[in-house]
Amino acid sequence: MNEVPNQNPSTNDKVELPYFDDLLALLKEGNAAVEQSFGRHVHWGFWGQPKLADLTAADFEQATENLSKQVCLAGGIKNGQRVLDVGCGFGGTVAVINEHYTGMELVGLNLDERQLARARDIVLPLADNTIQFQQGNACALPYPDQSFDVVLAVECIFHFPDRGQFFREAYRVLKPGGFLALSDFIPTAWVVPIAKIKLPAVFSLGFYGHCNMQCSIKQYWQLAEQTHFDLQVIRDITANTLPTYPYLRQLAKKAPVANKLAVLETTVIELSSRLRLINYHILGFQKPGN
Ligand SMILES: C[S@@+](CC[C@H](N)C(=O)[O-])C[C@H]1O[C@@H](n2cnc3c(N)ncnc32)[C@H](O)[C@@H]1O
Repeated sequence: MNEVPNQNPSTNDKVELPYFDDLLALLKEGNAAVEQSFGRHVHWGFWGQPKLADLTAADFEQATENLSKQVCLAGGIKNGQRVLDVGCGFGGTVAVINEHYTGMELVGLNLDERQLARARDIVLPLADNTIQFQQGNACALPYPDQSFDVVLAVECIFHFPDRGQFFREAYRVLKPGGFLALSDFIPTAWVVPIAKIKLPAVFSLGFYGHCNMQCSIKQYWQLAEQTHFDLQVIRDITANTLPTYPYLRQLAKKAPVANKLAVLETTVIELSSRLRLINYHILGFQKPGN
């Protein structure tokens, strides 16, 4: 397979994501709409019935909770497990697991210390769960072999320097029989050659930072084969995420961001999704058992 290396294949620990700079500034100002929309999760929403989306902040907040729950479902999360959430943002998915399961050892990993500081403030362990938020890179996981039951990566793999290296690391730290579950923007197969030419220019404009949205489903199958995972869950949830876009347009009126490219880049992603050039998927992989 052509392994679709990302454009920046280093594993250095710098995070250059302008959207997080704007987000952190708005949260610091105390912007209530941003706090409710992105104070816990920084990802698109999942609506079970997208036609019923009412586009209030409460509706979006619920939809973001739902997306985390859907990824957890693909990871087969159960009570009493040790779970690693890679690219954990402000700890929203760790918080969801903490609130719905017991006896959990939860670890959130992120490159960005600023996000981790917020996660430590807002996500506190319940009952007999433990939570640790740690700085580190998805492509060089700072954990021993076979130390987790589940690895999650919610809406972040397109930022990682190298998908193949992340898969090898996830495989290494998973126990036999463990699951890797993730969500990603996946191009339709025929778009990939075009995306390889066009997307670097379009998606490196400066709001969402470095993004590689060039890994098709076929390439995910190949990646799974190369790294010895079984690809078990493939769910196209594009339709369930579409209310995010009108919601973001509405939010932009209450929370204008400094970066002028935000609207352009978000519109490109919206059009690509509506035209089904890019499809939002949840994927689940299992490391074979003993
Ligand atoms: C769209 S946000 C998603 C955050 C979180 N998963 C959520 O759903 O709320 C992408 C996240 O990936 C993190 N990230 C980007 N590159 C990373 C890397 N190489 N290693 C670890 N985290 C990374 C960013 O700091 C950011 O928190």
